[in-house]
Amino acid sequence: MEFSIKSGSPEKQRSACVVVGVFESRKLSGPAEIIDDAAGQFLGDILRRGDMEGKAGSTLLLHNVPGVEADRVLLVGLGKEREFHEKEYRAAIATAIRQLNETGGFDGTLYLTELGVRKRDVAWNIRQATLVALETLYRFDRLKSKKDDVRRPLRKLTFCVTRRNELAKAEKALAEGIAMAAGTSLAKDLGNLPGNICTPTYLADEARKLAKEHGLQAEVLDREKMAKLGMNSLLSVARGSDEVPQFIVLRHKGGGNGKPVVLVGKGITFDTGGISLKPGAEMDEMKYDMCGAASILGAMKFAAMMELPLNVVGIVPAAENMPGGAATKPGDIVTSMSGQTIEILNTDAEGRLILCDALTYAERFDPECVVDVATLTGACVIALGHVATGVFANDDGLAKELIEAGQGAHDRAWHMPLWDDYQEQLKSNFADMANIGGRAGGSITAACFLSRFTHKYSWAHLDIAGTAWRSGKDKGSTGRPVPLLAHFLMQRASRVPKRKKRG
Ligand code: BES
Ligand code: MN
Ligand code: ZN
Repeated sequence: MEFSIKSGSPEKQRSACVVVGVFESRKLSGPAEIIDDAAGQFLGDILRRGDMEGKAGSTLLLHNVPGVEADRVLLVGLGKEREFHEKEYRAAIATAIRQLNETGGFDGTLYLTELGVRKRDVAWNIRQATLVALETLYRFDRLKSKKDDVRRPLRKLTFCVTRRNELAKAEKALAEGIAMAAGTSLAKDLGNLPGNICTPTYLADEARKLAKEHGLQAEVLDREKMAKLGMNSLLSVARGSDEVPQFIVLRHKGGGNGKPVVLVGKGITFDTGGISLKPGAEMDEMKYDMCGAASILGAMKFAAMMELPLNVVGIVPAAENMPGGAATKPGDIVTSMSGQTIEILNTDAEGRLILCDALTYAERFDPECVVDVATLTGACVIALGHVATGVFANDDGLAKELIEAGQGAHDRAWHMPLWDDYQEQLKSNFADMANIGGRAGGSITAACFLSRFTHKYSWAHLDIAGTAWRSGKDKGSTGRPVPLLAHFLMQRASRVPKRKKRG
């Protein structure tokens, strides 16, 4: 898709289709009003005849509107003007894109981006429009032998802004939106790929490919190197599988000698539960257990495309969790890279076992902060549903920053407690800790487990078990939390570097 930004009168656009909004009940948005005036009240007349009320989700496609240069005018219902907020704006864009893709024109000029959304500026409107447009057009059909192709798909989109002095800001936001969408789409593709294709080795190859395309640095540690480093907790998860584990490190060097932001993603390419085998129903969805890893690759892609003036390290421990003759058994005790011993009471709590060694490894980068992303617990889905990602942190400032980034991206997250009181549940009779803490507060005790490996830096953990993919008939990866991470990195990159002390 080709995108551009424009400022100009809607009736003068030479385009296959100009898109303008109509509020309930039949109230024309600004650009629709301009078209109506140019067309001798053509739109108003049609609406009065009852063809459209302006209800959210409704559309009306008009051809040969008098006084209008474009071939078509698409009216998009926006619902009540007073209730037109972020969600409604995104829905209106999605509706417009879906219609444009089916009308037969190759290009569309959107005036919906001029609509005011409370507390949001033109940059937000453009970024979100870009993300929503590409989200709406996203298909994962590479494994279908027959693809249902759109006859004349949309190829070019123009977003309009009201004033010429907004153009520069809008162009920048467009570039950000495109990079965010590219990262999100990469994360979706990797998530949607089945476990027999997207193996730890496949993830490592993808990381190397990404590095090559975007000038990142990639390093992949094999089992022997991991063993040498003492990553026995990570390796204990891979023992039951014929797929070799991989430890992937990607680096974006845009910040001189500044301390890096380190991102860590859970890369379980399939989670059967291991010897603590999962029940059969919906087990296919455990191919999504590498969505944390996928989001890190997506965020690294964003950082590289935007050439962010920031150092970013992406770490992905990747393994497959399978039962097998050599698999870890409940009760087995391993020594993690940190030296702490772990009694593995449930082999299905494997995410924390691979993450803890990655978190210890992260120390060597002397990080400014570390953020891990993981489809870690079913309990987080029970707590927050499929709307918010869970945020846990040993640094409230960092948690706040991530939550704000999520708000800015409409990829929302919610702060969960990480009080010491919960740590007791991880007590083991035979090792320094157990890898499970019982049913109560399951997402919190999982985060508590991770926190024991993060004492040396500022750290946050994002539990994306409820937000990384959709189940049911719309089954598919969401690409979350790439937009959140992208906003977070953007914010970090624009921070004024701490002034050196004079002396
Ligand atoms: N990958 C799962 C978490 C998960 C389950 C995410 C369902 C999304 C949907 C994780 O490895 C897991 O199995 N966690 C266990 C932990 C338990 C054994 C303490 C869980 O949540 O049941
Ligand atoms: Mn599991
Ligand atoms: Zn898992």
